[in-house]
Amino acid sequence: MPRPEATPATAGGPAVPDVDLTRVRELVEETDPHGNLIALLQRAQELYGYLPEPVVAEIARLSGIPASRIYGIITFYAQFTTVPTGRHKCFVCHGTACHVAGATRITEALEQELGVADGTTRDDLEFTLDSVACMGACSQAPVMRVDDETYGNLTADEARRIARRLLDQSATEQGGASDA
Ligand code: FES
Repeated sequence: MPRPEATPATAGGPAVPDVDLTRVRELVEETDPHGNLIALLQRAQELYGYLPEPVVAEIARLSGIPASRIYGIITFYAQFTTVPTGRHKCFVCHGTACHVAGATRITEALEQELGVADGTTRDDLEFTLDSVACMGACSQAPVMRVDDETYGNLTADEARRIARRLLDQSATEQGGASDA
């Protein structure tokens, strides 16, 4: 059944940033939505960090593709998300080798330093922390990935140091943004 008309998400959870829908029009014009809907959704998610309902509704409106079909793709592929995620994403491997090597201690260290529970996003949308399955680097267990960087042979102390660096980086970036 088609979903009802999109409305901006407002109830509960992290604050939803303003969504500039003019960028959606550009994406739809640049990417053939009928021939390459997945690529279009990937680009939209890169742009917004996730696929908020107004963006999906606008893609549906501009392309004529039913929103129900677009949501079918979004829910089928794990790479897509309709909830806001942090600007910095920390994934701790909890596969067998990493679990045995102390992944739980890594997750706990990050939870404490970053102030975010595993599997959630901080309200300021700076950090998402999540547990994932084997990252294919078992010889370096325990392993985590932060944004595009992978760290292996971690200790809880090293995870804390990385988290503090991230916090410093985030504070600097936010300072820069507010100065602009
Ligand atoms: S179990 Fe963690 S990388 Fe394989």
